[in-house]
Amino acid sequence: MRKIKVRLGSNSYNIYIGSGLLTQTGRQLKENGFAGKVVIITNPIVKGLYGNTLKQSLTREGFKVTVLQVPDGEEQKSLEVAGRLYNELTDLYCERTTPILALGGGVIGDLTGFVAATYLRGVPLIQIPTTLLAQVDSSIGGKVAVNHGRLKNKIGAFYQPRLVIADIATLRTLTTKELSEGLAEVIKYAVIGDKEFFAYLERNLDRIKSLDERLLEEIVYKSAKIKAEIVEKDEKDLGLRNILNYGHTLGHAIESASDFKVEHGKAIALGMLAAGRISNKLGLMDKNELIRLKGIIQRAELTTELPDLEVEKIIQAIRHDKKILRGKIRFILPKALGSVFITDEVSLSLVERVLVNWNEET
Ligand SMILES: NC(=O)c1ccc[n+]([C@@H]2O[C@H](COP(=O)([O-])OP(=O)(O)OC[C@H]3O[C@@H](n4cnc5c(N)ncnc54)[C@H](O)[C@@H]3O)[C@@H](O)[C@H]2O)c1
Repeated sequence: MRKIKVRLGSNSYNIYIGSGLLTQTGRQLKENGFAGKVVIITNPIVKGLYGNTLKQSLTREGFKVTVLQVPDGEEQKSLEVAGRLYNELTDLYCERTTPILALGGGVIGDLTGFVAATYLRGVPLIQIPTTLLAQVDSSIGGKVAVNHGRLKNKIGAFYQPRLVIADIATLRTLTTKELSEGLAEVIKYAVIGDKEFFAYLERNLDRIKSLDERLLEEIVYKSAKIKAEIVEKDEKDLGLRNILNYGHTLGHAIESASDFKVEHGKAIALGMLAAGRISNKLGLMDKNELIRLKGIIQRAELTTELPDLEVEKIIQAIRHDKKILRGKIRFILPKALGSVFITDEVSLSLVERVLVNWNEET
């Protein structure tokens, strides 16, 4: 088992990463001072796969366990569903000390986190992420949220979990699509923070895709460590934490211009490649590294093909999403593999040029 400590003063917590950790969760909770009643929030898919293992591990240590379920899907991240969960927690006589365990992917983690942050002004939250994306990203750093109308993830809080338990064995049941969604984030961490890690991914991607547990543990550990270090320096996302949005400026625009037909991970991959190309045009990232970036994206079953969308529609989506000052827009650009910077100096016309010439680019 690997351990990462996220140092945030009185909100510090440990991330445990390893295979088979679900069976040890009862003991982990006990060691962390919890006792009595616990509530698991999950969905029917994850409950069917891992609900019993987690429940048994908790009851074995004397916990009184209740499992609450919400249906699967992003649309469950809503105030309405949160409201229903508040009622269920009240029916269970939950108290301020009753921990709530989020067992699932990012949707369950964000929704449960939002409920834990707000119910009785905050109850202990334990994140038990079961997708690669959730293990390397959404379970760490305390951003919890629901969607509301056109506001995606905009009704929320910064609310750190008390513990994150990432059981690598749960990744075995992910679909290729879910694995790729997570790999997009893993590639993001390598580009923003660790050139050696990028080379490691290049060497090992085929075995990672075949779900080799030792390699999965290593990439979750390395990614979670990069995220934890960034969150420690800028918990409330006032500066440095912005670099985690590498690939997102254009990625979000592509998702929204395609009416969300382009999957999130693929859109982010296109955004990461576009940012690399912009950087190259500004004389920063060299061609060879750009070729390596494109290569790893392709091998991760993401995409480097721009979908059949009008460039103007993508530009409109950027205008809608981001502040444009004097024709310039904020971008996270890679200087080189392993190093990014934030700039407000990318002109919309350069972005447009990269998009229009997409198929001729490296
Ligand atoms: N809070 C943050 O910092 C943060 C960061 C990134 C993303 N997010 C949010 O995360 C969400 C996306 O998360 P996601 O990609 O995990 O999606 P998800 O939670 O919808 O999970 C994807 C699918 O995999 C299933 N699943 C979960 N674990 C499984 C397992 N072990 N085996 C088989 N199937 C499993 C789920 O039921 C679901 O059908 C979005 O809502 C996004 O906004 C939040």
